[in-house]
Order: sequence, then C-alpha cells, then structure tokens
Amino acid sequence: MIDINKIRNDFPILKQTIYNKPLVYLDNAATTQKPQVVIDCLTEYYTKYNSNIHRGVHLLSQLATNKYEETRKIVADFINASNEEIIFTKGATESINLVAYSLGTHLKEGDEILISHLEHHANIVPWQEICKRTGAVLKVVPINDKGELILEKYRELLSVRTKIVSITHCSNALGVILPIQKCISILREFEKENSINKIPFLVDASQTIQHIKINVKELDCDFLVASGHKIYAPTGTGFLYGRKDLLEKMLPYQTGGDMILSVSFEETIFNDLPFKFEAGTGNIAGIIGLGTAIKYINTIGLDNIKEYENDLLKYATNELLSIDGLRIIGTSKEKTAVISFVLNDIHPHDIGTFLDAAGIAVRVGHHCAEPTMKRFNIPATTRASFSFYNTKEEVDKLVFNLQAIAKMFE
Ligand code: ALA
Repeated sequence: MIDINKIRNDFPILKQTIYNKPLVYLDNAATTQKPQVVIDCLTEYYTKYNSNIHRGVHLLSQLATNKYEETRKIVADFINASNEEIIFTKGATESINLVAYSLGTHLKEGDEILISHLEHHANIVPWQEICKRTGAVLKVVPINDKGELILEKYRELLSVRTKIVSITHCSNALGVILPIQKCISILREFEKENSINKIPFLVDASQTIQHIKINVKELDCDFLVASGHKIYAPTGTGFLYGRKDLLEKMLPYQTGGDMILSVSFEETIFNDLPFKFEAGTGNIAGIIGLGTAIKYINTIGLDNIKEYENDLLKYATNELLSIDGLRIIGTSKEKTAVISFVLNDIHPHDIGTFLDAAGIAVRVGHHCAEPTMKRFNIPATTRASFSFYNTKEEVDKLVFNLQAIAKMFE
C-alpha cells in the first residue's frame, strides 16, 4: 500500500508553488523528481568522500569505490543480473549507442536491424547511422490504431538476415507497453527453426524500469538499457545490462583511462568486465545516487507502485475522456500511467502553456518520437505522465483546467 502523504513528504520539490499555485508535476516520463534520500546522498558524497574510483589507495577513494560498486550490485539484483553484466553509462541513449557502435559496426551490407514504430529517437538514430556506415537495412515493425505492436508482422519481418532486434518495452510518447516477452520467445523459436545462432535482442526499459519488475534472465533478453533519472536518480546516470558472453566478445566503443589493464605504445590490454566499457571518470556521485534511488524504490515495492499507478491511470483516463473533444492517442489496455492526448484542434503548445500558468507541468510536442506521431497523422500531443507521488486531486486539477482551455478556444 502507498502512504501518499508520507511519499509526498519524501520529495521536497513537490512542496513548492509555481506562480503561487501548488506544483502539479505530471511530466514523469520526461524525468522523475528526486527523493530527499537521493539529494542527501549527493551532498554526503561531495561533503565527505568525493574522490576518484578504482584508482586511489587513500581512504576517500576506497569509500567512493565501495559505494560505486555497491550500486552495481544493487542494479544487478534489481534486474536479476550479475555485477559484471552491468555497465554504467550516462543514460539509455549512451547505452544504446554503446551496443550500436560495438556490435553494429560488424554488420555487413544486407544485414537487417529490426526496431518498432514506437521507438524513441534514441532507439532509431543510432541504428540509422550504423546502417549508413555498413549498408545494413533498418526494418520497422508496424503498430495498429491502438498503438499496439502487430505481432504477426514482427514474426514476418524476422529473417535470417536479422542481426539485431532493438525494441522498447514501452512507448515513451503513448505509454503503450509492448509484449516484449512474446517478442523474445518468437525470436528464440525462429532461431531454432532456422538453426541459427542467438540474435541479440535489446530491450529499451527507459519507460518501464520505474513501473514494472524486470527480470532479465526470465525475459531472456541479451541487452537492456535504462536511464537513472527516470527512476528517481540523478540525471547523467544509467546502465546497460549485457549478457556476459556477448559483452566479453564485444570491443569497447570508447577507450581511455580506467578501462585498461596495461598500456604501452605498442599494445593495450583492456580491463575485464564490466570496466572494459567504462572509459574515463563517470558521474560517480550520480551513480551512487542511482543505488540510493533503487533502494528507496525497493522499500516502497514495485508491485505497490504498479498497483497505485494503475489505479491513477484508470481514474485519469475516465476523467479525461469526459472532456468533449479530447482524444487519447494510444488506447491499448496495456499501458503505464502515461496519457497522450489531443484536444479539439488546440495546439498542444498552447495547452502546455495554459496548464503551466495553472502550476501544472506536462510535456507537449512529439516526445522525441516523430515517427509515432506521424503514424497517427498528428504533429504533437499533450502528455500527462504520472508517478506514485501523484494524486487523484491532481488529476482533477488537470481536468478542470483542460475544460477551461477547451472553453477558451471554442
Ligand atoms: N525521453 C523523455 C520523454 O519521453 C525525455 O519525455
């Protein structure tokens, strides 16, 4: 059960007013707010043991290294991986680029990369670049009018030329959850039928890691990426999960300090996993903050979070649909608490600006998913995305203000 008063107390930013109105923060799919424990953890790092990791014999360096590596274990346990399978990055985008440039550059002309029509630009553009450089071809699994992946088409698009499948677990623009487990099972059957090696399957979990329990071993995915800032941790943090045998074969896509065992002008020997992929000094404080954020989420429980957010989603969907002229884009039954909508022909930027004046923060635009918008013949939507710290009263405020905006534009 969620104790909403206690939870809201954990997030200092929620107590403030915007233009003299209480802040209603409904832009959680863009980034989540940070609980006090995470903020305190950053202060503690910079006031007590700021130092570089893996490099110092002095106490501060040991403390920082221990905390950093503790976080690796926290992340690994959170998704049922092992420590060496967790690579820290600055976010999901960097994680996808790492895989694209490390694996993708080995592709040949005519090889295929399969993505879906619901991808964020971060899971489109790196693959397009790989295609340009290698002659590989980008294939896209279509979606239906509810914003759902068409599984039969996915099956049809798999081919012996498919070399990488990279699909999001949930559309950031619409909140529609994709049947990723089924997609992976279909892929594994396809490999068996055709007696071919495992085709790497990457899951973009940026929009599910904070809502749904993920188990990479049960999923049987090869890679999984996520951003820390979507799960109540600092920005500039994230991770890549990779299957150990795959990571072992892959070359680092960035090189430099901390990722080596030895360097001479003639030869460099790379470090072991996971350090081989962590060149340079990363966001040490932020990563330690990621560990604290996940511990915080664990104390609340993802099952409780999911139940609370589902209830909020149901309530908000019904209330929003009571507004004349409001159309939800992405009407699948399988959704996270994200509602993307258009209201009559009012431009989403106008809606966002009027809501802002009422203290309500939503995202408007194409949500870094232009192809998804094009599929629905719209340039943009207004997107309200909820967290377990949001309330039904906040939904009521959103609805009240949208009704007023609709009237104003009549
Ligand atoms: N990917 C983030 C969003 O969906 C920024 O808003």
